[in-house]
Amino acid sequence: MESRPTRQNNQVIPTLADSVQAVPHSRIRELAEIAMGMDGVLKLYFGESNQPTPDFIKQAAIEALGAGYTFYTENAGLPSLRRAIADHYQKLHAVPLDPVTEIVVTASGVQALNVAIRCVLDPGDEALVLTPAWPNGAAIVAMDNAVPVEIPHPLCGDRYIVDFDALERAVTPRTRLLVYTSPSNPLGWVATVDEQQRLLDFSRRHGLWLLADEVYDRLYYAGARLGDPVPSILRLATREDALMVVHSFSKTYCMTGWRVGWLIARADLAKRATQLNEFIISCAPGFAQKAAEIALGAGEAEIVTMLARLKANRDFCMQSLARMPRVTTPKPDGAFYLFPKIEGLRDSFDFCRRLLEQERVGLAPGVAFGAGGEGSIRICYAADQSVLEPAMQRLERFLCSATPV
Ligand SMILES: Cc1ncc(COP(=O)(O)O)c(C=O)c1O
Repeated sequence: MESRPTRQNNQVIPTLADSVQAVPHSRIRELAEIAMGMDGVLKLYFGESNQPTPDFIKQAAIEALGAGYTFYTENAGLPSLRRAIADHYQKLHAVPLDPVTEIVVTASGVQALNVAIRCVLDPGDEALVLTPAWPNGAAIVAMDNAVPVEIPHPLCGDRYIVDFDALERAVTPRTRLLVYTSPSNPLGWVATVDEQQRLLDFSRRHGLWLLADEVYDRLYYAGARLGDPVPSILRLATREDALMVVHSFSKTYCMTGWRVGWLIARADLAKRATQLNEFIISCAPGFAQKAAEIALGAGEAEIVTMLARLKANRDFCMQSLARMPRVTTPKPDGAFYLFPKIEGLRDSFDFCRRLLEQERVGLAPGVAFGAGGEGSIRICYAADQSVLEPAMQRLERFLCSATPV
């Protein structure tokens, strides 16, 4: 692509901004677009369940439309939804939050990431991003004309850990932000309380903003009871800490298409994010916010049912993968992904493309998730057994074929 305007037939043809060309495209989406042109694909590449949104949430949206929630709302979201989010944190984490000054409703988790990151980075600043990670965090940093610096999670035995030495080495005078995701997409890694504390201490010591992406906190299989959330980092931090927590209704309530999320942050950042919302999206749709409020209040039983299904899916896929040649799968404690490592695999995109063409199974290539991702593939196990069973059989057949890697 030309970076300067060109002339053609006496006309100047404007070109796109140079800076936008530095934004990487999503290699998950690239693979998905090949798959979308094919019939009969078992689709496990996107991070979503094939379960519809529970009926009581859909009903709440219909009632909200009837009740007149068809107008703009506050930039920070409906006060009643922000109160419901504050109550939710009090109940699940014993963390008191001020719904007026510390909570901003957003039109999705990805919009919360956008507005949060935009609030702390100037062009040329650097952001440390723990990877392998959902690519959007690093891409949003690049969209803001800043520089993502990827720090891979090393695998230590059966568990991913945080490389604190690498973090120390990566800090420069331009570093302003550290981004991590727990539970992680794609690893399923869950930060321990000790790791959370060290990430917080590290950020405090270097004067960095810490962004915790906690959108999968309810999809947790290692708590005392199924349904217990991963303890939020908000339990450790004070409200004066330079902390931002991003969340979403998408994963917990099967609401990916609704586009409602939230941001919790120090009051000055929350205020600025509210102001920027006006220029990005103004507000999430009012009726979707109202339905989200009902989801928070009445969704607990559905969450436990969903978790039992997800846990069974996870265990089924882990057992299937254990039988496959050259495959090692670290056991995840959260989210709904497996990230098996395949011995000898150097080009995970090519592997996924051939798997798609030969076996009609759509997985996400590890390379899509940044440093440390190549050599692995991501399986989203939120689908039904009727999809997972044939997908595992076909993956095994492919891995046993002549040239799998
Ligand atoms: C780690 C992580 N954060 C945030 C999101 C954003 O979710 P949404 O924009 O649907 O709320 C996703 C979606 O896949 C994700 O995996």
